[in-house]
This record gives sequence, C-alpha cells and structure tokens, in this order.
Amino acid sequence: MNDFFKDMDMGLRSDPKRLSSKYFYDDQGSRIFQEIMALAEYYLTNKEEEIFIKRSHEIIEALKPLKALDVVELGAGDGSKTKLLLGELLRQHVITRFLPIDISAEALVSLERTMRNDLPSLQVNALVGDYHDVMDELEVEAPTRLFLFLGSNIGNYPPPSNQELIRFVSSEMRVGDFLMLGADLRKHPAIIRKAYDDSQGVTKRFNLNLLARMNRELGMNFIMDQWDFYCQYDPLNGELRSFLVSLEDQMAHCRPLNSDYHFTKNEVIWTELSKKYLLSELEELGKGAGLTVISHFMDEDRYFSDSLFKKEEL
Ligand code: AVJ
Repeated sequence: MNDFFKDMDMGLRSDPKRLSSKYFYDDQGSRIFQEIMALAEYYLTNKEEEIFIKRSHEIIEALKPLKALDVVELGAGDGSKTKLLLGELLRQHVITRFLPIDISAEALVSLERTMRNDLPSLQVNALVGDYHDVMDELEVEAPTRLFLFLGSNIGNYPPPSNQELIRFVSSEMRVGDFLMLGADLRKHPAIIRKAYDDSQGVTKRFNLNLLARMNRELGMNFIMDQWDFYCQYDPLNGELRSFLVSLEDQMAHCRPLNSDYHFTKNEVIWTELSKKYLLSELEELGKGAGLTVISHFMDEDRYFSDSLFKKEEL
C-alpha cells in the first residue's frame, strides 16, 4: 500500500479530518496551480518575480567570491523565477549547474524545454521525486551550492515540521553553502485572504482536484458538486487554512481498501496551511538549523521575502 492510500485513510479517519496539500500536485493539479499563479489576486508569484528581476545582481554579490555554483531547487515547478537568477549567473560567467527537483514529471519536462530555449548554455540535471528521497542522489560537484526553496512552499509546513524541514535541508548542506528561502510575509489580512478566496474559483478547483485525484488513483467515488471550498486567515499567527466543505451527509468508498468514510453536512476537511511569516520567525527557523541570515531580499511593498542563509561552522 503506497503512502497516498495510507495518508488518505489516516487523514479521513482523524477528527478533524485532514488531507495533505502535498497531494495537490499531480500533473492536473500542477496545471491548475499555474492558473493560480496567473491570477491578479495571487500576488505571491509577481512579488517574488519582482525580487528576482530587480535584485538578482545583489543576490549574486552576496554569494561571492564564486567560481562555480550548483543551484539545487526543491519543488522547482516551472522554474520561471529561478531562470532570472540563472540568466544573471551565466552573464557573469559563473559556471552554473541547475538541479531542479519536483514531484511532477510533466512540470520538469516543460522546465527543461524552457531552459533549453532561453538559457541554452545551462547544464540542467532534473530529478523527479519527493525531495526527501531525491536529495541523497545529489552529486557534489561545484565548490559552492545554493539550495532554493522558493514560492512560499515553506508555508505549507505546520510548525514544528517547518523547523524539521529546514534542519533536513541544512543537514544536506556543507559549511559555506547557501539556502534561499522564499516566504510570504504578514500584510493586511484582507489582501491575504483574497489571494486564496479568488473570484474565479480557481483555488476551489485546485482543492477539488484532490478529491478527483483520489477518485483516479485511489479508486474512490467522491461526487464533485457535493463539495465546496472555504478558507480562513488568522492575523494573530499568520496562518491561512484551506478546507473542503461537505455540502451533504455523504459517504465516500475506497474500492481497493474496501473502506468507507462518512461526512456530515458542513463537515470540513482541512487541506492546506499557507503560513505567512514575520522576518523574525524566518531568522529563528534558520538559527534552529545552524543557518545565519545574510540578507532578506524583498519587493518594494515588503509583501514577500527571499531570505538568504549561509551554513556556518558548528
Ligand atoms: C505553492 C504552497 C506556496 O500556499 O500559497 C496556492 C499553494 N494553495 N493557492 C500557497 C496554493 C492555494 C501555494 N504554495
């Protein structure tokens, strides 16, 4: 029985029920996420892109002295922001290898195509899989490595798993290696909520795809139009939570496990945490993993930070 079966079964037997947002990203989910990134309300992507457009030069200055650099990206997706940094590295004649890791094979194929077209001199070694499994396969080549964990993906890790993840990445780093952590920052609560409660219902489709994926891959029988989407933001701790809402008293059956799950009308399944950070919280995360902040690279509105950390001697 694979992890998806186990996690679904555990999550739907828990009270309150929950499913992990890591299962959002099958090929279909990755495509819907592309649509989310194109939404005006979903400011995260544009703000982080602004940082890479305006500040790539400064970021590279902070990495120097540099001879050759391996750039390892966890959860690379389409790599469009990273491309801006990689382009600048190549222009400065830094020998650069790009090692994107992603669970979506389709996303990596399209990333490789983009890089071949736009940065033909870049060496790309894509790795498909969960980054916990794939990190061990990384071959050390360059004297310096820059690990990228962008797009506020850290927001999906409920404390203390956020700290555990940064410790894991740090354990793979050598002294002198860098980590750039992209995180969505605290801001007006209404702006944050609107980024998820979008007017076109794209985020709703993104959440419903999790049920559709369970139908496809776990032999289940969720009825899509009996589910809704809801999200809630708590400005006291920066936690935005997403939920699926059962619109009926209903059951779902899993054929391979021969198991049933009951949902009462208005019962929710918690699907995702998208935590918004304070700069001080980011610094604490680094500190707890033996990483020192070099600089917080932010957009002009200070909506988003790409925070650069360096691994120090113990
Ligand atoms: C890719 C995890 C950063 O939490 O904002 C977008 C995913 N979920 N809309 C986020 C997501 C709903 C996104 N991350």
